[in-house]
Amino acid sequence: MRGPWVSPGADTRAVSAESRVYLRAPVRADQAEFLGLMRASRSFHRPWATAPTDEERFSAYLGDAQRPDFEAMLLCRTVDHAILGFFNLSQITRRSLQSAYLGYAVGKQFAGKGYMREGIELVLRRAFLTLRLHRVEANIQPGNRASIALAKGAGFRREGFSPRYLKIGGRWRDHERWAILVEEWRERHAEGRMLEGAGATENSP
Ligand SMILES: CC(C)(COP(=O)(O)OP(=O)(O)OC[C@H]1O[C@@H](n2cnc3c(N)ncnc32)[C@H](O)[C@@H]1OP(=O)(O)O)[C@@H](O)C(=O)NCCC(=O)NCCS
Repeated sequence: MRGPWVSPGADTRAVSAESRVYLRAPVRADQAEFLGLMRASRSFHRPWATAPTDEERFSAYLGDAQRPDFEAMLLCRTVDHAILGFFNLSQITRRSLQSAYLGYAVGKQFAGKGYMREGIELVLRRAFLTLRLHRVEANIQPGNRASIALAKGAGFRREGFSPRYLKIGGRWRDHERWAILVEEWRERHAEGRMLEGAGATENSP
């Protein structure tokens, strides 16, 4: 049985049916489906996030995905392997920081169905167990209720407010800084009994 992360080139037909969603890296063959989803979601994503909507940006995204400081993850549906959305861990910093920024967006047609809530759990499992990060930070505009609910629901804490922090859609926008540490994530899962066992593997932390 395969875990929630499917390696490039692996047979996605073997993905476990126990989970509605899984994560995998983007590949060139995803271009048409991914761009179709992101183009159809453009107004839904605005002004909260930007996503690749043309071939040039998709190529840049694939290039980023090859870098050691960037983890590109497509969220896919187990039953039909449809691409639902994406998560990116960017600016992965090693040494004494072991930290990354998390960005995400769902395709409009798949929004509000709980897929991202399930997906973010897989992302954190990957961030803390596979990538061995210590901290994941998400910067969210104060009015983005869905994103705040998603981060908060996954255990992120609000750390502060950063005025005119990120330029999105041509404007510098205020953001709230939300973060989760590996210790908090472990405690949360120990308490909630959401994950079984105590081993440090990706499938059963
Ligand atoms: C943020 C986003 C990824 C959430 O996706 P989604 O499909 O709604 O997520 P889910 O269905 O898994 O729901 C996640 C949580 O958000 C809540 N939620 C969803 N839409 C909401 C809304 N419009 N208002 C308030 N809460 C909302 C859900 O109730 C759920 O919370 P719960 O677990 O406490 O019930 C999606 O809205 C999106 O892509 N937005 C545009 C891009 C974006 O904002 N990216 C993040 C930038 S920081």
